[in-house]
Amino acid sequence: MATQTPMKTIVALPGEGIGLEVVDATCELLMGTGVPLKILTPPQGSPLPDETKKAAREADGVLFGAAGPSTSPVVSWLRWEMSAWAGVRPIRFFPGMRSPLADPDGIDYVLLRENSEGLYPGREGELADLVNVMPDLSDRTGRKIKEFGDEGRFAVKIVTPKGAERIARFACDLARKRRARGKPGKVTCITKSNVLPRTDGLYQQTAERIVREAGLEFEHFHVDDAARRLVRFPKSMDVVLCMNLYGDILSDLGAETAGGLGLAPSGNFGDDGWAYFESVHGSAPDIAGKGIANPTATILSAALMLEHMGMGAEAQRLEAAVGRIYRDGKTLTPDQGGTAKTREMAQAVLAAYR
Ligand code: NAI
Ligand code: MG
Repeated sequence: MATQTPMKTIVALPGEGIGLEVVDATCELLMGTGVPLKILTPPQGSPLPDETKKAAREADGVLFGAAGPSTSPVVSWLRWEMSAWAGVRPIRFFPGMRSPLADPDGIDYVLLRENSEGLYPGREGELADLVNVMPDLSDRTGRKIKEFGDEGRFAVKIVTPKGAERIARFACDLARKRRARGKPGKVTCITKSNVLPRTDGLYQQTAERIVREAGLEFEHFHVDDAARRLVRFPKSMDVVLCMNLYGDILSDLGAETAGGLGLAPSGNFGDDGWAYFESVHGSAPDIAGKGIANPTATILSAALMLEHMGMGAEAQRLEAAVGRIYRDGKTLTPDQGGTAKTREMAQAVLAAYR
């Protein structure tokens, strides 16, 4: 099909482990679609070379595979230095996916992860140093920090009104877009505000205010209850607004309810329209090098990237092609009960796309 879209440049960064396999297979697929794309693969390295950063900053889209121990600087740069603060993680069941739930048909929500605050990226220190500066910092029982002694470590969780507000507004935008497509337009906020009323409480209260001001439905669950609800009532979810750590954990859980970790894509959005796209999963050292990783998460991430670059029709067509492969059930990787290799599955998606 001829397209009017001008040529777009994307930067593909595989990371390591299965990241290499799924990004290779996805790039080959993308080139086969005839979508006007130029794919650059600048070097990774640690630290990430300046030429790579420049290319990724200037690209129309960035597709990332998965980080492992030696490529964590890549994801650090993409997520934190480029401040891609909104992590959009669609959880969607396509018939044929190997969900562990009895009735997964209709699971379709977006988990929105605040990517820039909370406990990430880690800020840790020696307890003795904390006791030195804040000896009287006490918990809700009145126990002071110094009572722990000075042997041990601490981690710092940060919540700012600015960070909470911008992610809540992003959640509202997502909910409005989904409502326009017939979804409820509801934001479900997840915190542990019963235990952390000042930090998580600030996030919860900010989200509630902004969502209600936007005239959208708001609900809140504590993260432990929320974990259970995402398993028991996933179809009642629309936009699930999470703090950073909870979003990290619950997106693996959500992915599994839909059929597996190899299926869950993400888009990570920063200021000024810059974004990068990656699977939710990591480098999977246990299956790396075997050519059996499921490429779906990366293919669906590429679809999110196409949509972001103004190629909505091509993105939908790619998602539909993925849907067809699962309905057919003939060319699936082992995690989905098949025998296909990563590349074979991606090529089957390409055939369905055409
Ligand atoms: P993981 O997500 O790499 O793997 C967890 C399990 O899911 C493994 O059994 C793996 O084989 C399976 N799995 C993951 N993706 C799959 C796919 N596409 N197809 C079939 N099976 C798949 O998590 P893990 O093992 O905790 O972490 C491994 C490394 O990845 C660590 O170094 C970790 O830090 C990193 N990581 C990186 C992420 C990123 O780049 N955004 C996200 C999560 C982990
Ligand atoms: Mg994770």
